[in-house]
Amino acid sequence: MTQKITVIRGDGIGPEIMDATLHVLDQLGAGLEYEFADAGVVALEKHGDLMPKETLASIERNKVALKSPLTTPVGGGFTSINVSLRRHFDLYANVRPAISFPNTKSRYENIDMITVRENTEGAYLSEGQEVSPDGEVAVSSTRVTRKGSERIVRYAFELARSTGRKKVTAVHKANIIKSTSGLFLNVAREVAAQYPDIEFQEMIVDNACMQLVMRPEQFDILVTTNLFGDIISDLCAGLVGGLGLAPGANIGEKAAIFEAVHGTAPDIAGKGIANPCALLLAAAQMLDHIGQGANAERLRKAIVATLEAKDSLTGDLGGTGTTMGFAKAIASRL
Ligand code: NAI
Ligand code: MG
Repeated sequence: MTQKITVIRGDGIGPEIMDATLHVLDQLGAGLEYEFADAGVVALEKHGDLMPKETLASIERNKVALKSPLTTPVGGGFTSINVSLRRHFDLYANVRPAISFPNTKSRYENIDMITVRENTEGAYLSEGQEVSPDGEVAVSSTRVTRKGSERIVRYAFELARSTGRKKVTAVHKANIIKSTSGLFLNVAREVAAQYPDIEFQEMIVDNACMQLVMRPEQFDILVTTNLFGDIISDLCAGLVGGLGLAPGANIGEKAAIFEAVHGTAPDIAGKGIANPCALLLAAAQMLDHIGQGANAERLRKAIVATLEAKDSLTGDLGGTGTTMGFAKAIASRL
């Protein structure tokens, strides 16, 4: 059976890494049908809209999208396309794996963890950001709900079960921020009690950061509120060698969007030298999500084998390869 997915080729290096990724997916034989949709500056130029209605409708129909990075023009009052996509589809779970790969700038060799970040509430509210008229005092409100906390913690535990992982660590600051972080932690404890097969651990965020740097191999799945998750997931990406290898998924009930964590890399766009791995790893997350776990594993193994062989690596990994050359080297190892 073929599954239709929405494909957004994006801006900057977006089209280059997407072409490379689709080449590998085709070789994988995942039976995917691509519905191409425009977004970003490309869409603004063609349709006068950064996020055309037809693109939203396509994602709504297919419920799964693979997306390249997009440029949100600075100035002109545009809201970030990524933030508006998250809001439109209520993509409450931001899921960012961090795995050590061979021959990268990874500081460790045995990291295999996933950060599950709450993506819709916490400190990232557009309302409740105020500065007094004299500019002397600023107040920013944070909102945590039982519903929001429950669904993100449940997502983390379900992910643990479905991927055979053993432990979920709730990262919080409930000792100081008793209201919001306290509610999150209480709900996390309640949900954890329903998953006796998965180990539950609580960790205060500052200690978690130190532990991540000193002994990252102790972590399996981390679940946390929006702001802590934003910071921790970047920390984890740094531990395993940076942006070129960091994928992310934004998941909700209505849709799921898979993407690289990095941006459009305007400094190298159009040169055919961008590393396609982050988007490929996002595609592997997508395959897991649509029930093609075996193909996801084949894809990850081929990436690892290509890195191990240092075959056709791109410049950011110390090689001189091209985007498509690297993709072909990966495809040949599927
Ligand atoms: P960036 O991630 O695009 O680039 C940072 C540095 O990493 C650059 O030196 C770039 O060449 C390098 N880099 C990034 N991806 C790479 C890859 N696949 N292979 C090799 N090198 C890579 O971040 P920056 O410069 O802050 O943002 C540029 C644009 O991207 C902005 O317009 C921003 O709004 C947009 N952006 C979009 C995102 C999205 O759509 N998800 C996420 C982040 C930024
Ligand atoms: Mg961030």
